[in-house]
Amino acid sequence: MSSPLGSLAANGALTAQRTRRPMTVPDFMAAKRQGVRLTVLTAYDYTMAKLLDDAGVDAILVGDSLGMVVQGEPHSLRVTLDEMIYHTRLAARGTRNSLLIADMPFMSYQVSPEQALASAGRLVKEGGAQAVKLEGGRRSVAAIEAILRADIPVMGHVGLTPQSVHRLGGFRVQRDAANLLEDALAIEKAGAFALVVECVPADLAEKIRTAVKIPTIGIGAGTGCDGQVLVTHDMLGLFTDLKPRFVKQFASVGPAITQAVEQYCLEVREGRFPAAEHSFR
Ligand code: KIV
Repeated sequence: MSSPLGSLAANGALTAQRTRRPMTVPDFMAAKRQGVRLTVLTAYDYTMAKLLDDAGVDAILVGDSLGMVVQGEPHSLRVTLDEMIYHTRLAARGTRNSLLIADMPFMSYQVSPEQALASAGRLVKEGGAQAVKLEGGRRSVAAIEAILRADIPVMGHVGLTPQSVHRLGGFRVQRDAANLLEDALAIEKAGAFALVVECVPADLAEKIRTAVKIPTIGIGAGTGCDGQVLVTHDMLGLFTDLKPRFVKQFASVGPAITQAVEQYCLEVREGRFPAAEHSFR
């Protein structure tokens, strides 16, 4: 059977999509050794997860960014574990081949390793996640080790960790190279299978990539990572409250929706919709 990464490397995304088999954690890790760049996008429901999966994204992250782009909060701190489980369950129904990773929300893993294990267990058992992601470097090692004792794969997240927004004083680029390198190495040593590196200068991201054997997945970290993650609402132009410099908008879905809704309102008001072909006899 073909490896998802092998077909991606050899034949491009379209062939990969046709011959695709489910992405696993070992496949994800192998990408780095094979020099294949990894693609990750966020989804919070069935429809979006299905679209991303059909398009061939390697992993779907049910991010706690849903606090901003779904719930309209200014940050992710109010997202609860129950909400993450709910959205993970919706996304799981639309996910066939992508690796499904669920974010651990604020205060679902910081209290104790036991709490971290119990929360991760719920995301897998009730939500259907295949792996979890949590924020923090050395301070999160005990949580990662506890979760791994139940064989739940863990993705780390260093650099700008949005759950630390109040300590950091905002969503800012992180430049403390020595600290970040130590954090990345500690997360790898704890057993994480991959590492999100958020909002760090490109040369520092490259240093982190070469220092660790696990794949680094960048966001606002330049080209020096083994893969890339974006919030889907940002890259589709659906969420426009914030426009971080690192986001490339690959489509303008927001304006397309507005235009479609305006047209719908016009046609209903003018009696042009529904027409005969939309009616039952
Ligand atoms: O919550 C999220 O969507 C994330 C990604 C942006 C990495 O953590």
